[in-house]
Amino acid sequence: MNIIVTGGAGFIGGNFCHYMTKKYPEDTILCIDKLTYAGNMETLAPIMELPNFKFFQTDIANRDAIYQIFEGEKPDIVVNFAAESHVDRSIKDPEVFLRTNVIGTGVMLDACRKYGIKRYHQVSTDEVYGDLPLDRPDLFFTEETPIHTSSPYSASKASADLLVQAYARTYQMPCTISRCSNNYGPYHFPEKFIPLIIANALNDKLLPVYGKGENVRDWLYVEDHCIAIDLIIRKGTEGEVYNIGGHNERTNLEVVKTVLSELDKPESLISYVTDRPGHDRRYAIDPAKIHKELGWLPATTFSEGIKKTVRWYLENRTWWENIISGEYADYYQKMYGNR
Ligand code: NAD
Ligand code: TYD
Repeated sequence: MNIIVTGGAGFIGGNFCHYMTKKYPEDTILCIDKLTYAGNMETLAPIMELPNFKFFQTDIANRDAIYQIFEGEKPDIVVNFAAESHVDRSIKDPEVFLRTNVIGTGVMLDACRKYGIKRYHQVSTDEVYGDLPLDRPDLFFTEETPIHTSSPYSASKASADLLVQAYARTYQMPCTISRCSNNYGPYHFPEKFIPLIIANALNDKLLPVYGKGENVRDWLYVEDHCIAIDLIIRKGTEGEVYNIGGHNERTNLEVVKTVLSELDKPESLISYVTDRPGHDRRYAIDPAKIHKELGWLPATTFSEGIKKTVRWYLENRTWWENIISGEYADYYQKMYGNR
């Protein structure tokens, strides 16, 4: 099978390309990535030369270029990871989120419609459900929870989900959607919370914690997300949405303290900074549907996953040091310098 993976030079798409090329040598992974600030060829370096991997530097919103790839490669399956993914950036500059996350998804769907496809899979997020109160630990997001977005990022992802559902119904396209909780693991761009605090702690820099650090995220080790998507594209039911997450809820403060203790660094590095506007309080997934229908459960607990992740950042310093010493350093100063 020929499988298009968009956004494969990013964090989760990159991990997915590694996972799929290794697990299915008989399939070909066709990675499409624009290489924005978040795309990194170093992430793909270990698989670039494999005979079952091909890379195309292309924007998913560029219709002609996308149609050309479909024409030449005749893909069977499309997994759409490509997106602008950072909430803070979406607050500062929403437009590119609409272009990539909404228009780009529309172009990918049109290409699937024009050339035919066995399955289109949209990688979405639990953020489309909005947030849950901190004092109701009994509440979880299910696939029936209404869409109720908070940030320009989540609004753009929800818009994409609605487009996918509209194409599935109107054109009877074979689509699935997954909505996953926060991922962490290797190749995670160091503007996101966990890699940021690992990198800062290793450099003895302050760790910026928004508000009081009470917000809760449901952390999933990235490989478990890859396994879930692989199951959905092969065995999931067309037209369905699957939530992915595994009861690994932690407050941001708990996460920071765990990382500091893994690295043997002092808690005096914690610095409470101005809260994010509209900051979602708690995300928590009920994974009953994917467990019951596809037998999926996360294999890695948070305590194992965070150990593996910290070790990866220790052993792969050049990967993230190249990022934080480059162009990204100027951006970080402009964006967060005065808080
Ligand atoms: P990321 O920002 O690390 O990677 C995004 C990738 O998409 C980059 O390689 C970038 O170059 C590429 N890209 C951006 N715009 C593009 C365009 N117009 N055309 C082609 N490529 C483009 O993001 P991530 O954290 O790996 O997230 C991947 C997907 O998973 C996103 O759709 C995101 O919404 C979703 N998701 C992420 C998380 C998480 O915790 N990171 C959780 C749930 C869902
Ligand atoms: P993030 O990694 O941006 O993911 P998301 O907002 O999509 O969940 O942030 C995870 C949590 O960490 C979120 O509650 C915001 C918080 N956070 C900080 O406290 N400090 C930071 O510097 C960042 C980037 C995030």
